[in-house]
Amino acid sequence: MPALKKISLFQFKNYQQQSFDLGAKVTGICGKNGIGKTNLLDAIYYLCFTRSYFSRQDGNNVLSGKTGFRIEGEFQNGGEPEKAVCVLRETGKKEFSINGEAYEKFSHHVGRYTCVVIAPDDAVLVTGGSDERRKFVDAMLCQVDVDYLRHLITYNKVLLQRNSQLKSFFETGRQDMELLKVLDDQLTQPGVYIFEKRKIFLGSFLPLVTHYYADIAGVKENISTSYESDLLSSSWADLFTANRQKDLHSMRTNAGVQKDDLVFQFNDQPFKNIASQGQRKSLLFALKLAETEVLTTEKGFPPLLLLDDVFEKLDEDRINNLLKKVCSESNGQVIITDTDEKRFAATMKRLEIPYQLINL
Ligand SMILES: Nc1ncnc2c1ncn2[C@@H]1O[C@H](COP(=O)(O)OP(=O)(O)OP(=O)(O)O)[C@@H](O)[C@H]1O
Ligand SMILES: [Mg+2]
Repeated sequence: MPALKKISLFQFKNYQQQSFDLGAKVTGICGKNGIGKTNLLDAIYYLCFTRSYFSRQDGNNVLSGKTGFRIEGEFQNGGEPEKAVCVLRETGKKEFSINGEAYEKFSHHVGRYTCVVIAPDDAVLVTGGSDERRKFVDAMLCQVDVDYLRHLITYNKVLLQRNSQLKSFFETGRQDMELLKVLDDQLTQPGVYIFEKRKIFLGSFLPLVTHYYADIAGVKENISTSYESDLLSSSWADLFTANRQKDLHSMRTNAGVQKDDLVFQFNDQPFKNIASQGQRKSLLFALKLAETEVLTTEKGFPPLLLLDDVFEKLDEDRINNLLKKVCSESNGQVIITDTDEKRFAATMKRLEIPYQLINL
């Protein structure tokens, strides 16, 4: 099981140069607002995903006024020490290596050290648009299936091409239906894979979400979850045919896995419209706990858990339920941030969870 023992940051966000030892099963990162707690978690996320959890642009993560950053992680993986290094060169080129050996494709690294984040902005998973939920499902599937990521990249590339062709048909007034059919075929190939994977995976994932929701809430609440996709009721060919005119008029692709969603209901109504804030947060944690469980089952080892600001978000009972689950019942490494060291220490003591502390 991979465990992160040490991390060193150079010119990463607000860190000029700093190293942190992280040997313990549970580590608390404490310090005032703006001190760099979330930034440290993001650096750990980089070591797992080769990119930031928060920002698409690597350049945003360089210490202001500098060029390039470096993150080094020392992992213990099945008894063997491993050194993971992520470097953003001054040229803007990113490199990622394990024990000095650089990856040709970053996608080959994803899944080596699995990781689950719970951050305040993740509430958009419940309240935001369907793209947030697809990103969440994709991040899970990419960690357990390298082919999934490959197909997803291809699908998105072809989708862009198809949309740009539709736009060009509209602008030039010339519609090349043969070309459109070729693009339909090219989209269908990775699309079939993505849909089948999502369907099978969510079939076992979603019941876990309901189960964890009940655990965290501690009371019976009527919630339901389901996977929504155009492909559940139509074939790819039928979807393309049915949407042909609409696609041509709107200049974009109106059906396919880019429209998939997860549907959450509370007493048979849309969850986000009716659930309280605490209930929404509970659903968010349920999603993340279910993610932790499937990653553990699929990979054979638990993911690294990064909990950002969870104390600010839940009442004491729910916090206790959550921390007991992630710190005691799972044997994965957990890293938790808190602005209040005393509260963190008191909670851990009450729950009899041993921990180490990093005071920023
Ligand atoms: N590229 C960067 N260069 C320099 N400083 C940066 C960069 N990106 C972010 N920061 C700084 O990092 C700080 C925020 O750090 P971070 O979000 O980790 O704080 P935090 O300890 O999690 O705070 P909070 O308790 O409010 O969540 C801010 O002061 C911000 O200006
Ligand atoms: Mg923070």
